[in-house]
Amino acid sequence: MNDLTFWFLARITGLTAFAVLSLAVLSGEALRTSVLDFLASNRAIRRLHDFTTPLWLPLVFAHLISLLLDKTAQIRPVDVVVPFVNPYEPYFLPIGLGTIAFDIIMVVTVTSWLKRRMNNTLWTWIHRTSYVAFVAIFFHAAQSGTDFDAPLVSAIAWSTAAALAIIGVTRIVWGRLPA
Ligand code: HEM
Repeated sequence: MNDLTFWFLARITGLTAFAVLSLAVLSGEALRTSVLDFLASNRAIRRLHDFTTPLWLPLVFAHLISLLLDKTAQIRPVDVVVPFVNPYEPYFLPIGLGTIAFDIIMVVTVTSWLKRRMNNTLWTWIHRTSYVAFVAIFFHAAQSGTDFDAPLVSAIAWSTAAALAIIGVTRIVWGRLPA
């Protein structure tokens, strides 16, 4: 396989991972918003959240393996876990944001498996760092991605960010449902 193949794979898996993580964060936020209380018992939304939460794992790992194999990207194994040490000068900041997002969603995913063994407040605050991860992924993709500027991709990404922000504001103003 040549370098272009890995580049295409990195873009495809990155965008699919973004779509899956957007659905996971949106459905999770909607499930616990008081103005959307009719969704709290909606099985389809619950199943969508449970289905999309672990689905990011194979997609992001494929994104990272493709980038490690892509000679142009110059990503080293250490760049995947330690933010802001990558030598890829023009993309230093956005690649660092991708690493931060990866570290956060890894912790959120592992703690979601350990929920029953954890203190509820601690678990909830760790889980809420998913919003930080979403913002980091958004800027990571917008600044380092090739396809993120395409009208269709951009429209979907900005609509998702707007929906998350609107639901977030309604949660602050009208409250959230208990976990
Ligand atoms: C939460 C984990 C991550 C997600 C969901 C994610 C998602 C994305 C998305 C959506 C794009 C834009 C693709 C495009 O517009 O074509 C992208 C591009 C990119 N990502 Fe990630 N990423 C993640 C982590 C990382 C990490 C940890 C690194 C490296 C250390 C990385 C390196 C890159 C690079 C170099 C590009 C540019 C690829 C190109 O040339 O278009 N990503 N990523």
